[in-house]
Amino acid sequence: MSDLLTAPASATPLLSTHALSVRYGGVSANADIDLTVDAGEIVGLIGPNGAGKTTFVDAVTGFTRAKGQVLLDGTRVDRSSPHKRRNAGMARTWQAGELFADLTVAQNLAVAVQRVGLRALFFDVVTGSKPPAGVVEQALDLVGLRDVADRRPDELTLGQQKLVGVARALVGGTRLVLLDEPAAGLDTHESRLFGTELRRIASTGIGILLIDHDMSLVLDVCDRLYVLDFGRVIASGSPAEIQDDPAVVAAYLGSAEVEADEEALAVVEESLGVEVRSPGVESPSVESPGVESPSAKSSGEESSGEEPHSDTTESTRYDTARDGSEPDSSGKAEQA
Ligand SMILES: Nc1ncnc2c1ncn2[C@@H]1O[C@H](COP(=O)(O)OP(=O)(O)O)[C@@H](O)[C@H]1O
Ligand SMILES: [Mg+2]
Repeated sequence: MSDLLTAPASATPLLSTHALSVRYGGVSANADIDLTVDAGEIVGLIGPNGAGKTTFVDAVTGFTRAKGQVLLDGTRVDRSSPHKRRNAGMARTWQAGELFADLTVAQNLAVAVQRVGLRALFFDVVTGSKPPAGVVEQALDLVGLRDVADRRPDELTLGQQKLVGVARALVGGTRLVLLDEPAAGLDTHESRLFGTELRRIASTGIGILLIDHDMSLVLDVCDRLYVLDFGRVIASGSPAEIQDDPAVVAAYLGSAEVEADEEALAVVEESLGVEVRSPGVESPSVESPGVESPSAKSSGEESSGEEPHSDTTESTRYDTARDGSEPDSSGKAEQA
């Protein structure tokens, strides 16, 4: 009978995916992903670099070809164009998405709702090319930035700029927003404020899928989390359940495939809140000569943006590099 009491209020999730899969050549970037986000919920999607997080956002929003199903409020949208999915209430941010420096905050939001196509051109000529009254203000209200609408991005704090990026995705009746590393580059304090704003946005009924490397933000702000590794969901559950999951700890450590040093272990322990090293043991038992340290390499794609990833000393991060291909076995070959 407790099942009845704990059953979710709404049977239909805002977003659900079934066996969502994406292949890039030989790489299985997403493999059979089943994931749900309810209205008003913040769901985290975490995993090492190259695990397939951005690919998942691409697949859900229609920016890459995928197999499987994507349902918004119970309606299949996986055959729809990105534009149609956007109009249905699903929006995304782009990793390292930058603001237009020469436009005000309000103008940055307005261009996000500018229509495309001939009919739109006709409409814009007739109406004077303005987004519907109020939509920009509504989105700014959602992130608490109404009073900086006429400022330019460089007059804002980095945290505010990140929120403008989120607001841009919220313009025009967005019900589900997929945020791809929206807080990258924020220090601990800014990141916490950012998290508070995300909670406020969710409390209005908007569903949020949050990808971020800042574990303290993600564990703090998310209702539930999914962990991806090599395109597959290896764990899901509440932040507490995720922190206790050995598969998750192994994924962040890269198991025995990578050379683990004291510092890396300490970071993992701190971010996941679990003890990886046994007390009294001086050095980690995981050793594999000849394999590059995970922190020595960072994905080129990730670093091509607004340099947010370099200044990460204050936040807890787990930038293990993964290119999605099978792990290089050369490092352990000599062991036998
Ligand atoms: N457009 C693409 N073409 C080919 N391979 C891609 C493309 N996008 C991503 N990949 C590959 O898919 C895998 C997952 O990448 P991605 O989704 O960007 O991971 P994450 O966002 O978790 O860091 C990686 O191996 C990456 O190299
Ligand atoms: Mg990514």
